Amino acid sequence: MKIDTNEMAKLEHATGTAPRVDLYSGIHKALRALMADILVAVGRMDPEDESEFDWVSSRVLQLADVCTSHLMHENEFVHGAMEACQPGSSGRIAHEHLEHGDAIARLKDAVQQMRASQGARRAGEALSLYRQLALFVAHNFEHMHTEETVHNQVLWAHYSDEELMALHARLVASLPPEENLFALRWMVPAMTPAERLQVLGDMQAHAPAPVFAAALDVVQPHLDLRGWGKLSRGLNLAPVAGLVEV
Ligand SMILES: [Fe+2]
Repeated sequence: MKIDTNEMAKLEHATGTAPRVDLYSGIHKALRALMADILVAVGRMDPEDESEFDWVSSRVLQLADVCTSHLMHENEFVHGAMEACQPGSSGRIAHEHLEHGDAIARLKDAVQQMRASQGARRAGEALSLYRQLALFVAHNFEHMHTEETVHNQVLWAHYSDEELMALHARLVASLPPEENLFALRWMVPAMTPAERLQVLGDMQAHAPAPVFAAALDVVQPHLDLRGWGKLSRGLNLAPVAGLVEV
């Protein structure tokens, strides 16, 4: 099952003049939401609850893999396009991606170290991981801001919206379906109602019905009734009996 989320790339970014295709905005909203959610989960984790401990620590490892995959996609597709039109323009952020690779490895080591600990020592390891993850998230937030401002200026100066949408389509087509669904699960709830409707409206119009249904299934549990009501009305979905919008 392949999900066509090309509409993600059409999310408009107001520049003060004309809106442009923004390759970063949607997926970065997803990453900010995911990072914040996992950071809070680590901070309140009960290290004596084995089930919760296993779940939360596995989520940190999952975040590490998501971050690795994300920076590889940026390196290959976005930086490749930037270097083709303006050599050196991705250099600073590409260097930060190398540093991120090291930081991700240290994060995974910290999780393994915490998992190997017991009792009072485990609580100390968990607090240490929480602080390490907080710094990792803080740096990533600054990093993403630079990409959304400096990098977008380069992309917008050299590429048309049609070219950027084609680039985004190639990137999305390279991803396995489960990675696209995971991105939708975090991205859509983090978006404005108008952005949600744009992404899912495009899928409704162009993706196979089972793909669209799968996207709704992963998104709906993470929207409140007001948000779901706006989306379902915008998509002209049949109302569900018993659900009352607040
Ligand atoms: Fe990046």
